[in-house]
Amino acid sequence: MAASSLSRSLCFLFLMNLIWMIIMKPTAAVPPLNRFQPSAWYQAHATFYGDESASSTMGGACGYGNLLSNGYGTDTAALSSTLFNNGYACGTCYQIKCVHAPACYSNVQFTTVTATNLCPPNWSEDSNAGGWCNPPRTHFDMSKPAFMKIAQWKAGIVPVMYRRVPCMKRGGLQFSFQGNGYWLLVYVMNVGGGGDVATMWVKGSKTGWISMSHNWGASYQTFTRLGGQALSFKLTSYTTKQTIVAYNVAPSNWNVGLSYKTPVNFL
Ligand SMILES: *[C@@H]1O[C@H](CO)[C@@H](O)[C@H](O)[C@H]1NC(C)=O
Repeated sequence: MAASSLSRSLCFLFLMNLIWMIIMKPTAAVPPLNRFQPSAWYQAHATFYGDESASSTMGGACGYGNLLSNGYGTDTAALSSTLFNNGYACGTCYQIKCVHAPACYSNVQFTTVTATNLCPPNWSEDSNAGGWCNPPRTHFDMSKPAFMKIAQWKAGIVPVMYRRVPCMKRGGLQFSFQGNGYWLLVYVMNVGGGGDVATMWVKGSKTGWISMSHNWGASYQTFTRLGGQALSFKLTSYTTKQTIVAYNVAPSNWNVGLSYKTPVNFL
């Protein structure tokens, strides 16, 4: 008798708890899944290219074109191919601190850069004397304005510590269209969170989702003719695997040479 009433009250408690959990679920603080987390700190080296204007950093291998009008600013870096990962590292963000060199500014913690370019290997130079971007070296060839924030530029090359950090972006993803009527090449810009894109799909108003192939840098392409259809895009983050959908990014009268903004972005 006592055992049965105990089990009945346990059952009652269990049910109340279940009901409580169901009621509370929508308001409970659910930690966002797949939010990009900073990496550990790693060793690398950094040099700089171009001058104070950073004009030579424009039009880099990621295809962001004018970095100023596309929101990347002048604090950017070209990555050695080891870090560049065939362009999948385009748009990723790094804190870089100068370490163990007299040229380092001791009062500066780090500077933050976005990867916008490739620093190609130069095998006619030794990997330890000029061929700084030769694999397997991890190297940042920074814009001169970014380099000058952490070290005296006359040093030329400094040892650094770096870590991946979330990309802080204002506003949503931006899609820049290139190609022609038979070939849609889309550059994905202003990517928040991990900053990187692994896979992308496009959907016309009269089609299902069409998988796009990675072209180079931050660009994805399809050879499906989508003229006259409003376009939506679905993207998966390379690092966090988070997938987001941007509906009706471009109206049915979209055209190559134009950019389209969306309200959605990665975390
Ligand atoms: C590679 O290094 C050599 C030797 O310093 C130099 O002459 C050449 O211009 C470099 N090539 C590139 C593409 O930078």
